[in-house]
Order: sequence, then structure tokens, then C-alpha cells
Amino acid sequence: MISFLSCLCSLYLATSVVGAPALSGFSSVASKSSVSAASSTQATAPSVTASAAEPSATVPFASTDPNAPVWGIDSGTPQPIRGSLGASVLGPNNLPLDQMSPDMLAPPTTDAGSVNNAKWPFALSHNRLQTGGWARQENIGVMPIATSLAGVNMRLEPGAIRELHWHSTSEWAYVLSGTTQVTAVNADGQNFLANVGPGDLWFFPPGIPHSLQATNESAEGSEFLLVFDDGAFSEDATFLLTDWLSHVPAEVLQKNFQASPDAFSHIPAKELYIFPGSPPPLDAVAPSSPQGTVTNPYSFALSKVNATQLSGGTVKIVDSTTFTISTTVAAAEVTVEPGAIRELHWHPTMDEWSFFLEGTARVTIFASQGNARTFDYQPGDIGFVPTAMGHYVENTGNTTLKYLEIFNTDRFQDISLNQWLALTPPELVKAHLQLSDETIASLSKTKPVVVGPN
Ligand SMILES: *[C@@H]1O[C@H](CO)[C@@H](O)[C@H](O)[C@H]1NC(C)=O
Ligand SMILES: *[C@@H]1O[C@H](CO)[C@@H](O)[C@H](O)[C@H]1NC(C)=O
Ligand SMILES: *[C@@H]1O[C@H](CO)[C@@H](O)[C@H](O)[C@H]1NC(C)=O
Repeated sequence: MISFLSCLCSLYLATSVVGAPALSGFSSVASKSSVSAASSTQATAPSVTASAAEPSATVPFASTDPNAPVWGIDSGTPQPIRGSLGASVLGPNNLPLDQMSPDMLAPPTTDAGSVNNAKWPFALSHNRLQTGGWARQENIGVMPIATSLAGVNMRLEPGAIRELHWHSTSEWAYVLSGTTQVTAVNADGQNFLANVGPGDLWFFPPGIPHSLQATNESAEGSEFLLVFDDGAFSEDATFLLTDWLSHVPAEVLQKNFQASPDAFSHIPAKELYIFPGSPPPLDAVAPSSPQGTVTNPYSFALSKVNATQLSGGTVKIVDSTTFTISTTVAAAEVTVEPGAIRELHWHPTMDEWSFFLEGTARVTIFASQGNARTFDYQPGDIGFVPTAMGHYVENTGNTTLKYLEIFNTDRFQDISLNQWLALTPPELVKAHLQLSDETIASLSKTKPVVVGPN
């Protein structure tokens, strides 16, 4: 213990003199204590910095405390107590939030430092209520960590219309319930119309004008999740047909459309945004275009794709290799069975915006420099993991966990910790982690992706 402490001390001194070579007196003090810490490397390398790894003998073993969540969403009494640490709450507390956040109130002892809040429940978003539906959004205004992607949850009654509009970001959508009829026209004058059902997707590239309308295929209409490839996106700042035309001089409208003075005399004086309408025919087709229909469809039947079966759940990946138009958003629809886990991994060059559909989860985000924070998620919650940060997604409940991983990229990619270690020379892995030959041999050379219970 004494040598460990003096070693830390020499590291501290070494750190404090880095970048201050003029203070040679301090340097010599630092190298003297390095010698007393019995580190020949440091003695022969006076320019040692704190970033040099210490011999493992001087680093204590990591905790073997299981550090599981202390309570479930409907079991146990939330108190900020983990083992011998913490004490009960005496003042006011928000019980429902504490029940949902065991790893916030009684975090694993492996958590340290800070990671910006990586959870936003749509339940905390302002909801814009309209005749015929509603919309609520998440963007950097409420979730500053999510700089590259934003989301909207929208509901339309049968026949209700999210009016003709466009925006400078691309729009990726996952239908949660019912069927939405979408239309669009591209810059070449090719058009598109499709009915998009539960678990299916649409994607509109930046600037492509489109509409969304719930059909009456379901008596309730439809609801969907929209994801935009810009964290600063605002659903309240899209380009609406009615908003534009109500801000163009009438004389210009007449000239532009070669129309009579009263042809445009009944257009709305302000935006409609979401408004009621008659359900569109389910067999509707786009008007015939001399330019034809779009060559790469704007919708994709993800629900018809067979999921890949894994030991702990399933995964479906969709990106521009199959949904060719979707060049700026890729996604994975993942299920994780009770007791199973989406393995430790990271995404090399893209941020992850996740959306929880069913079940409960926890995620620890490792942000480097000793920073790690654990977040708990329920259906309707958004998560965010910045590029390259290590993480896992653990099912913390008794029912199947289902969620979406959504990325600002054209191709889905992840790095599996297990596969990385399995494909690295064993001696090298052993030198870091002191694993047995048996454990090394059990590492997986293919990605487990979702790992079943032991
Ligand atoms: C799961 O079910 C068991 C047995 O019914 C119960 O004790 C436990 O609290 C449940 N866990 C959660 C997270 O709901
Ligand atoms: C649904 O809409 C279609 C097309 O507008 C209409 O013909 C049909 O009667 C409607 N069905 C119900 C149950 O409202
Ligand atoms: C999906 O799975 C079903 C049932 O196992 C099978 O009949 C079908 O051919 C599969 N589809 C594809 C595209 O592999």
C-alpha cells in the first residue's frame, strides 16, 4: 500500500511538471520519488508523464460487486442506498421518477465522473395539440448531448393530415401504430405515394416536399416516430405550404399560376400544420407523372424483413444497402429477452439516437477519462450515445425489451468488444486483463450482438 501511495504521489508530481521544463528543481524531486517507487522505467525516463500505464501490480483489481439495479420499476422501495453506501431520503422526493431511475438514485459503484444526461422521455416534451392529432419533439433544446439527431412523436386521427411541407434535414420514420399514407415529389418531377404500416419506414431526403396522412385502416388512425439528422431540428420551423402561400402577395400568386383573381381567394391566412381530413382511399395512386415515379422508393417494409436470431434476442438492420434512398440514417431494431444484454460495443463514426418501444433497460455510457454514467429507460424514452463511446443495453425487466438504434450514417457499423478481444493475440489480452486460457478460448470471433442469460 505504501509503495502504491508513493507511486501515485510521483505520478502527481510528474504530471505537475509536464509542460513546465524550466522548473528543473521540481523535476529532480519527481524523479527521486520515482526511484523510491521502484520503477526502473521511470528512473531511466525522466520525461515520464501521467499517461504512461502503471505496472498492474500497483493497480488494485476492479470491483466484483455485481452492481445490479437496486430495485425494479414496480418492486422495492427506492432509497439512495447501495450496500453500505448512502442513506435514506428525509426530504421531499419524486417517487415515480425514483422508481424509474434506480441507477440514478443508487448508481453502480462503477459509475464515475459525468456524462451529459443521455435520457429524454417524450413524456417531458411540450405537446402541440391540434384538431386531428398532436406532435411533441426532442432536440438539443431539451437534450443538449444529442447534437446530430432529433426526434418527433406524432399522432394523426383517421384522415388527419400533417400538411404538405419540406425541411432542410432528411426525415426518417418508423410507424408505431396504424397506417400512414405518404406522398412526395422529387426535383426531377418524379412522384411517390405509399401506405406505410406498423414497423415500416419512410425516408425523405433533405428538401423533398411531402405529406403524411393517417388512413382509416385502423379505427384509431396512426402514430409514428420521426427522426431528423440534425439535433437543432425543430418541428415548428418546417416549410409549410399554407404558411408560404399566405405570405406571398396575391398579385404574385395570380402571375405565378396564371390564375384568375379569385382562384386563390380562399387559401388559409395562416398555417394548418395538422388538420382533419377525409381518410384517403387505401388503393390511392400518385397522379400520373410524365417523369414517372421515383426510382428509389421513399418507404421500406422493415416489418417484412426476417430478424436475425441471436442467443439473447433478435436484430434487424436497415441502412442504405437495402433501403437505398436512406443515405443519411441507418437503424437497428433490437429485441433483448429478460436476463439478456445487447453486448458491450461502440459505433466507430456515428452517434446513436435510441428509442425504447417495449420493456425496460439500462445503459452505461463510457465516455473515456474515467467517466461512466448509467441511465434507465422505459417505453417512450430517448437515449443518446455519442460517437465511439462504449456502451451496453441490458434488459432490466421481466418482459422482452424492444428498442431502435438510429444513426446519422449510410451504413450500420459497430465494434464488438468480445470479437475485438477474440481476434487480438491472446498474450496481449492476458497482459491487460489477466484472463485464464479457458476464458480467452471462450471469447467469440463472431459478434454475439445480443447475449442470452448465463
Ligand atoms: C420480475 O419478477 C420477479 C418474480 O415475479 C419479481 O420478484 C421481480 O421483482 C421482477 N423484476 C422486475 C424488474 O420487475
Ligand atoms: C375508410 O375510408 C374509405 C376511403 O375514404 C371509405 O371508403 C371507407 O368507408 C372508410 N371506412 C370506414 C370504416 O370508415
Ligand atoms: C422469412 O422467414 C419465413 C419463415 O421462416 C420464411 O418463410 C421466409 O422465406 C423468410 N423470408 C426471407 C426473405 O428470408
